[in-house]
Amino acid sequence: MKYLILTLVGLLLGLGGANAGSNMTQVLSTLPDGGYFMDMGINEHGLYSITDLDGNPVPGSPFPSTRATCPPSDLRASPPMKPLSRPLISGCVAPNEWVDWDSWKTAGRRLANWCAAGNMVPQRKILKWVVNGSEAYICNYAGDQNCDGNEYWNYMQTIADKCTFVGCGWFLQGSGNKSLGRGIKGGKSDPFYVCNNV
Ligand SMILES: *[C@@H]1O[C@H](CO)[C@@H](O)[C@H](O)[C@H]1NC(C)=O
Ligand SMILES: *[C@@H]1O[C@H](CO)[C@@H](O)[C@H](O)[C@H]1NC(C)=O
Ligand SMILES: *[C@@H]1O[C@H](CO)[C@@H](O)[C@H](O)[C@H]1NC(C)=O
Repeated sequence: MKYLILTLVGLLLGLGGANAGSNMTQVLSTLPDGGYFMDMGINEHGLYSITDLDGNPVPGSPFPSTRATCPPSDLRASPPMKPLSRPLISGCVAPNEWVDWDSWKTAGRRLANWCAAGNMVPQRKILKWVVNGSEAYICNYAGDQNCDGNEYWNYMQTIADKCTFVGCGWFLQGSGNKSLGRGIKGGKSDPFYVCNNV
């Protein structure tokens, strides 16, 4: 809350560029529980957007951003490129980050329910659900995608097998359209770092 207030004050003062009002890192790590859409990267104006599922921007969004505040290349190296003709691939990220099992299951159930209600993940957006700091997410590299909760759980089984029971990781569909994963809010396993194709 303190940082949200600082963010608002920063915006009101009209401080330019890379100030506290644009501290996306801080906002990412303090997002309240819920569902969010995030951009896959900065847009042509150098802005990065995080909204709720109704499209309302979170405080401070869109964030002025630069490549400097975007994921370092070693973290981005893993899934982002869309390999059109590659088989299914997956990966583990941030071996020292673990989801809280119950919280992540709840986040995954919310994601699955949202998908089951017939919602589509918008074109080139990240959909993520946050519960107690654990996240369930889908990165969409293509046009609007439908999503399926069973699909999410099936892929997460692979991640559990590969990355340990509570390890963080991602799974890229063979189509290259989507990757699905789990991570820690604001951590190196956050989809902001994992999915971003900046
Ligand atoms: C943003 O917040 C993080 C965490 O509090 C801090 O380490 C970083 O220096 C801040 N960056 C800016 C530009 O204020
Ligand atoms: C989230 O954390 C709170 C406080 O620790 C706890 O009461 C609640 O059960 C947790 N939610 C889930 C889904 O684990
Ligand atoms: C992948 O996305 C493209 C474009 O959005 C779509 O035409 C295609 O059907 C998708 N493939 C799968 C397997 O969902």
